Amino acid sequence: MGRKESSQLKRVHRIESLQIQKIPQSGRPGYHMSSPVGWMNDPNGFSVFQGEYHLFFQYHPYSGAWGPMHWGHCKTRDFIKWEYLPAAMAPDESYDEGGCYSGSALETEDGRHVLIYTGVADRYLEDGTHYYRQMQCMAVGDGRDYEKFEGNPVITGETLPEGASVEDFRDPKVWQDEEGCWLVVGNRAADGSGQILLYKSKDLERWEFVTVLDRSENRYGKMWECPDFFPLDGRQILLVSPQDMRAEALEFHNGNNSIYLAGTYDAKNHQFHREMVKSLDYGLDFYAPQTLLTPDGRRIMIGWMQSWDAKIAPAELGWVGMMTIPRELHFENGRLYQRPVRELEAYRSGQVVFQNVTIRESTELEGVRGRQIDLTVEITGFDFEHFRIQFASSGQYCMVLQYSTKRGCLTIDRTHSGLIRDVVCRRKMEVRPMETEDQGRCLRLRLLLDKYSAEIFVNDGESVMSSVFYTPQEADRILFDTDGTACIHVTKYDIAEEK
Ligand code: FRU
Repeated sequence: MGRKESSQLKRVHRIESLQIQKIPQSGRPGYHMSSPVGWMNDPNGFSVFQGEYHLFFQYHPYSGAWGPMHWGHCKTRDFIKWEYLPAAMAPDESYDEGGCYSGSALETEDGRHVLIYTGVADRYLEDGTHYYRQMQCMAVGDGRDYEKFEGNPVITGETLPEGASVEDFRDPKVWQDEEGCWLVVGNRAADGSGQILLYKSKDLERWEFVTVLDRSENRYGKMWECPDFFPLDGRQILLVSPQDMRAEALEFHNGNNSIYLAGTYDAKNHQFHREMVKSLDYGLDFYAPQTLLTPDGRRIMIGWMQSWDAKIAPAELGWVGMMTIPRELHFENGRLYQRPVRELEAYRSGQVVFQNVTIRESTELEGVRGRQIDLTVEITGFDFEHFRIQFASSGQYCMVLQYSTKRGCLTIDRTHSGLIRDVVCRRKMEVRPMETEDQGRCLRLRLLLDKYSAEIFVNDGESVMSSVFYTPQEADRILFDTDGTACIHVTKYDIAEEK
């Protein structure tokens, strides 16, 4: 595209070309996208461009910790195999000197790839006061090189409704329909808690404030980060990632959560009517998800598989931060379902099946082990109080998944995964067996294990828990155990790195 690259962006490209090759594939997740080098957080700009899926991300390639934000970049054809591309943006303008924060992307009819992101101005003025503002900016590219718009910023705090914060105003998610372009963006209302604003534009350059779609009113945490807003199976879904929430039963945990608000949308009057609020993921590591719509009509979500509160990645790996498996979303049985993208199935091999196994004591099944596997365990006999699956297990280490019939809850526990930090290690969620036609009462657990993570999909995706852990790879045994008698069916596949 022949653009002028800033010295900041050139430097990052040099770091990438020197450092990425030093990180061996064997030290990366097998099929999850991981940071090319250094730190990564939120997924950004998850979009289709020229028939490929692009993913950008919050990126600080200089270290394994958060720092002034760049936009890293990669793409894929099948959501499984990712190709790194040179970083797309560096904080190199007065309106984003404090960082190029989260945002989104779309492909225009005339073939441009447009990025809409939050620029952070952060400096001390001559008179000693601190000037800090978040505003929405644009960059345009060809799938590889991106140039910031000379008219930036495209949305400033001046457009905000009465009492809204000009400092917490970030993470625009853009989309287009017959009427024009729209975006939702996170903000803080006069009561100090989150709200989601809707803006409209004809040309992506001039934006008009439309309405407040929903607000926390201090009920669901403080600042609402990283919104997404889309129709799904007859409902309208608003995703937000609230900061500073308080735990509530097993539904929400303390700190940053990612939640979905499901309801209806009156598009004519821009009114969102919220009907329910639930957690998106009940594990230890999930935040700031974003979705795209595939050409075949699937709504796919990807999240940052890490927590702001527990930074446990070992520095030796050279990269910090992974994304979840992209997940197909559906609204069924009155709630949001998530299932790993079907493209993953092309990478499965070596099926091992066990039917009707009775478990009374700690049991291993031949061929059922590994750290890069797709494992389904169906429980159909429930004569027990607790049933446990230990994975990533060796004499010294283990990850534990435990189902309690009495409480109807599933617990994930990484206490003995080899951690050396005193961080939150356990999380629980409510789970009930399904009534199935062929198997009667059945609790179906699908464990997607990769070298450093586990994503547990319950009952065909009605709830999910995702957690990272960095246990040595040799710990690859799987043990089933119970305090009574359980009947289980097991299907296991290895997941290869090549199709
Ligand atoms: C969410 C977030 C966003 C912000 C970005 C900064 O994790 O705090 O609100 O844009 O990270 O890296």
